[in-house]
Amino acid sequence: MIALRQKPIGVFDSGIGGLTVVHALTECFPHENIVYFGDTARVPYGSKSPQVVREYAAQDIDFLLGNDVKMVVVACNTVSAVALDVVQKHAHMPVIGVIVPGAAAAVHSTRNKRIGIIGTRATVNSRAYAHAIRQIDPDVQVFSQACPLFVPLAEEGLTDHQATALIAKEYLFPLLLEKIDTLILGCTHYPVLRTAIAAAAGTAITLIDSGAATAVEVGHLLDTTDLRNPSAQKPNLRFFVSDIPAKFTEVGERFLGQRMGMVRRAAVGGV
Ligand code: DGL
Repeated sequence: MIALRQKPIGVFDSGIGGLTVVHALTECFPHENIVYFGDTARVPYGSKSPQVVREYAAQDIDFLLGNDVKMVVVACNTVSAVALDVVQKHAHMPVIGVIVPGAAAAVHSTRNKRIGIIGTRATVNSRAYAHAIRQIDPDVQVFSQACPLFVPLAEEGLTDHQATALIAKEYLFPLLLEKIDTLILGCTHYPVLRTAIAAAAGTAITLIDSGAATAVEVGHLLDTTDLRNPSAQKPNLRFFVSDIPAKFTEVGERFLGQRMGMVRRAAVGGV
């Protein structure tokens, strides 16, 4: 059992954004080993059809399973929204996506039962957050807005640029009209733009980071499955990507909040 507990948590994403979830995991669990896969050759997933994302997700999970992981965290909101069942079917081990933890944290936070969601087009079109919220509290009203420009803005590092502030205001305006009091950051990249999003939302709206909510849920899962790593040693964090690693490393350290060490290339899905 000790050997099983020391195995890594497998985390995957469409690309670089999932490193914000790895950041949340390393904050909560400083001794867990992690293997990360980012499908940088085929990103973005958020503008693709559910069929294509489901196909990619099946290939991504097969790669992680080949790395002898003990549980799987689907960091990508788009995959969690449209393909969690595919991952669960392949994995035969505990699997956690970001939608249900994010939805639960938002329901817990809202006072007026009006929740906003921002994410990729695929996540918003799937209505996965709305479905998860209504499962918990059918009286909550949900309002969604796709924010496709946030992904490149975050990757380009334009966190406090006036273009980001302007675009954030434009995207959030319809949600503010609906008098939401809680807003789910339903995309891996959005925590990087948190300051700009918070400024556009105003102080009356609570922001929910679905990645951070997922890390809390991972803690419960590690305990209920008795899979917490008992070791007090510095963990082994390994990173794999499907395109050449150069840009991933450069941008990724900002998302992760620490140095990344070696990033390796992995051939996944024939790319
Ligand atoms: N990781 C994706 C998500 O959280 C954003 C980037 C993409 O579109 O692939 O939905």
